[in-house]
Order: sequence, then C-alpha cells, then structure tokens
Amino acid sequence: MRFDSPRTILHGAGSRHQLTEILPAKRVLIVTDAWLVQAGVVAPIVESLGAEVCVFDGVQADPTDANVEAGLAALTGFEADGIVAFGGGSSIDCAKAIRFQSGALPLVAVPTTAGTGSEATPVMVITDTAAGVKRMTRDARLMPDVAIVDYELSMSMPKALTAHVGVDTLTHGIEAYVSRKRHALTTGLAHSCIERCVRSLRRAWVDGGDREAREAMALAALEGGLAFGNSSVALVHGMSRPLGALFHIPHGLSNAVLLPEVTRFSYGGAEELYGEIAAVFGVDRSKAAFIEWLEDLNRDLEVPRLRDCCGNDFERFRASISKMAVDALASGSPGNNPVVPTAAEIEEIYLAAW
Ligand SMILES: NC(=O)c1ccc[n+]([C@@H]2O[C@H](COP(=O)([O-])OP(=O)(O)OC[C@H]3O[C@@H](n4cnc5c(N)ncnc54)[C@H](O)[C@@H]3O)[C@@H](O)[C@H]2O)c1
Ligand SMILES: [Fe+2]
Repeated sequence: MRFDSPRTILHGAGSRHQLTEILPAKRVLIVTDAWLVQAGVVAPIVESLGAEVCVFDGVQADPTDANVEAGLAALTGFEADGIVAFGGGSSIDCAKAIRFQSGALPLVAVPTTAGTGSEATPVMVITDTAAGVKRMTRDARLMPDVAIVDYELSMSMPKALTAHVGVDTLTHGIEAYVSRKRHALTTGLAHSCIERCVRSLRRAWVDGGDREAREAMALAALEGGLAFGNSSVALVHGMSRPLGALFHIPHGLSNAVLLPEVTRFSYGGAEELYGEIAAVFGVDRSKAAFIEWLEDLNRDLEVPRLRDCCGNDFERFRASISKMAVDALASGSPGNNPVVPTAAEIEEIYLAAW
C-alpha cells in the first residue's frame, strides 16, 4: 500500500501569510482565475511574496488544455522558479498541469474553496477540448509540494458554491470509504471527512461567517483529498465528469445531483461500509434511510434537480447518454465502485437521476 501527500501541510486561520517562508523562489508564477483577481484576494498575496511575481489569471472553471498552454507560455516567458496555485480546484489542477509539463518546479497549493481537496491529491482533471472529455490524470508527480489550507479564504463563498463544493467533499469521503481501493490509511481520513461534513456543511451554508464550520469544511476537504487521492473516487465521479463536460454543470453540483441515485445502485455491494456511514449520519442502516438522508441534504442546501441543471432539455440529455456512459466507464472510476456497472446500467442511473 502506498500513501502520497504534500511534504508539508499548513492549516489554520492566517496560515496563508506563511507562503513566503515556505516557498524559496525568486520568480513566482501565481496561477489563478480572473474572478479572484477582481475580488481583490490575489493582490495581498502578491504583495506579501518577497519575490518577482507574474499573475496568470487565465484559468476557467473546469480548466481546459488551452488554459494549460496559455499558463505554460506565461511560465516560460517569465522564467519562473516557483508556482503558487491560488483558487478552487480549477486553478490548482491547471497549475499542476503547467508544472507537470515544465519540469520539477516547486508548487504550493492554496485552496480558496472547501473543496476539491486538490491541494493534497496526485490527480488533475483537465478538459480535452477536441474530444469534449474531462480527463482525469493520476501521477505521483502531480502532488503539490506544500498545501496551505487557510479557511479564511473560503469565507467569501456564496451559498450555492458552499453547497456544491461541500457535497463534492462529502462525495470524496463516501467514495473513498467504499472504494475497492480503500486501505488502512485512507478509511480513517474518509471517516473523519464524512463526520466533519455531517456536523458542519449545513452550518457553513446557513452562516458563511461561522468560522468553526468553515474551518471544519476546509479540513474535511483536505482529508477527503488525502483519502480519495490514495484510494479512489468511484461511480459518482465517473458519471459526473461527462455531465460537466457536455452540460457545463459545476463539478460539485453534478456530483450532488447524482449522489442519491448512484448510492441506490451501489449500496448492496458494500452494506457494511454504508452502514458505518449511516451511523455517522445518525440514521438506521437501511438503504432507504441512507438515501433519504442524502436527498434531505440536497433539499436543505437548495441543490437543484439534474433536469434543471440541463435546461430541462430532455431530448438533448437522452441523446447524450450513451456517450456519457462510455466516457464514464473509460475514466476507470466506475471500476472502483462497490458494484461495477455496465454501460447500460450507467444509462439507467442517468435517467433515474433526471
Ligand atoms: N484534482 C483533484 O483532486 C480534483 C478533485 C475534485 C475536483 N476537481 C476539479 O476541480 C474543479 C472544481 O473546482 P472547485 O469546485 O473548487 O471550483 P472552481 O475552482 O472551478 O471555482 C468555481 C468558481 O468559484 C470561484 N471562487 C473560488 N474561490 C472562491 C471564494 N473563496 N469565494 C467566492 N468565489 C470563489 C471561482 O472564481 C470560480 O468562478 C473541477 O474541474 C473538478 O473536476 C479536482
Ligand atoms: Fe470531486
């Protein structure tokens, strides 16, 4: 069994101020998105870095191969000797891809959502624009050297984003917990991730200024990343990436709308493990109670239905289902699910979630 993690993880309020001392670089490329620059959160980071800085803010949500190429050109032109990924999973994944293609520059990941856990995974998801596919790559060299998890950066997230990225975190915990690749070092982290989500996700959504809840969700995201990065995600993620690629549904939202139906399909393959999660939810160990809990969570967080995310265009959805099922299977994630589905079963789950 193998466990990869960043060499150093800093966390807690204000930990972002330790960026300069932890990154010994003279010319730093910051990889981020335009919204974060406009919101004024990048400027203090630039000022605090005792180095020359180039800000590349060309990352779009669900980053593409074109974003990576533009970032790589910025890095080369600037002759950077260190990279800071500053933003949500999109900025962090784009920075990972840039670093991967440019060699072994030090990479510090500073998440501003809570979150994908990408700050602590050897995984990136980059859209292949020609194929219309969100491609997941796993390689130990993608792991950031340092992760700085400062929950204060996540406090500006509006309610919808808090809900989407929070259910993404919960899904990482659940999928890592039931994954066929789970092992002794990942289950504890996955369990803790789920516990924190159960206690704090609703609180963070109701009151974005709740520091305790925001901190718990930032830590849950980190634990979720460490857990699934060293085991795997499974069918929810396998099916959500094609939805994101074709219908441009934000990653966490596409997980949230699939989670109840996918769990209905998967439960029988790992009843014991789902039962342990049910105990954390505080419900009995039946499949029905488990799924009801997930549906209640979606309702409480005002997560829309899948059909609303697809503009209620059922014909287009139905026409896309067979490509989505093929792409989902090709990603490999469904193979780690407690019940390994066929393409036809995946199509049925998409229809049931509609
Ligand atoms: N590499 C991994 O391990 C991994 C894991 C899960 C998901 N992902 C990928 O991560 C991407 C999704 O990342 P994400 O969900 O963090 O969102 P994101 O990075 O796509 O950001 C979504 C939006 O939120 C904004 N935002 C970011 N921080 C904010 C803040 N503090 N306050 C207000 N707005 C803020 C951004 O500007 C952007 O407009 C997807 O591409 C997904 O596939 C990667
Ligand atoms: Fe995810």
